[in-house]
Amino acid sequence: MAYEHILTETRNGVGLITLNRPKALNALCSDLIAEVSEALDGYEKDEKIGAVVITGSEKAFAAGADIKEMSSMSYMDAYLGDFITPWDRVAQNRKPIIAAVAGYALGGGCELAMMCDFILAGDNAKFGQPEITLGVMPGAGGSQRLTRFVGKSKAMDMCLTGRMMDAEEAERCGLVSRIVPAGDLVEEAVKTAQKIADFSLPIVMMTKESVNRSYETTLNEGLKFERRLFHSMFATEDQSEGMAAFVDKRKPQFKNK
Ligand code: HXC
Repeated sequence: MAYEHILTETRNGVGLITLNRPKALNALCSDLIAEVSEALDGYEKDEKIGAVVITGSEKAFAAGADIKEMSSMSYMDAYLGDFITPWDRVAQNRKPIIAAVAGYALGGGCELAMMCDFILAGDNAKFGQPEITLGVMPGAGGSQRLTRFVGKSKAMDMCLTGRMMDAEEAERCGLVSRIVPAGDLVEEAVKTAQKIADFSLPIVMMTKESVNRSYETTLNEGLKFERRLFHSMFATEDQSEGMAAFVDKRKPQFKNK
């Protein structure tokens, strides 16, 4: 499938989406988001795909929503056009998505990365919610997801001052899972995604669902949800195979990959 603003390829069970608007530092115009959503929907349906990586360039994951596209919007354009809702497809995807972030992840770029399941950062990554400098505030989850990732104090600091956070600070405060040299980032992200894709897909999907549930509910409700899912796994062939393989001291051959 040929897209205008993204590149897609599959590597051994992994779908790789590369944001590709270099002249605008991968600013996230509506057409780009529509293409990302379409590619993700395709990977979600494709039974050969077990995990997805979204990345940008070494200079920019994405420098935000497209300011030139938004600059002349009226309230009615924003409200009736509802241009942010298509972004939700990223967070709603049922398969694991890794954001591989090098360079700038600002505004909507940071929000897009946080919609993914975890973030691997290149050592040159810079995260920020600079919307305040443009006379607006985060609109695609920044004030909500960033606060859950890094806590209130740092989220307030980022959203109210618009300052950027480097990769080390982002790792320290839990925004990213780990840092790798920027030059190795995509390879490392794909390798990580391949590791996930090698496990049982339904078990991976349920695990994602359970971790995500912890954001939405109380500890007790979350624990009950986890317990039900855990019990249900004993109805899968892959649970039998995974545990039998351990006992037999061999590598499991999961059926539902
Ligand atoms: C449109 C953008 C852009 C953006 C960069 N460009 N960011 N175009 N929207 N978000 C364009 C520039 O206009 C320029 O195009 C080209 O990319 C290169 O950018 P420079 O500024 O020349 O690069 P540099 O000096 O290296 O500075 C990099 C930068 C800066 C620090 C990342 O570009 C910057 O501050 N960008 C804006 C970051 C931002 O405010 N993001 C939040 C957006 S609001 P030309 O044609 O001039 O060469 C947002 C709200 C989301 O995301 C709400 C939900 C949808």
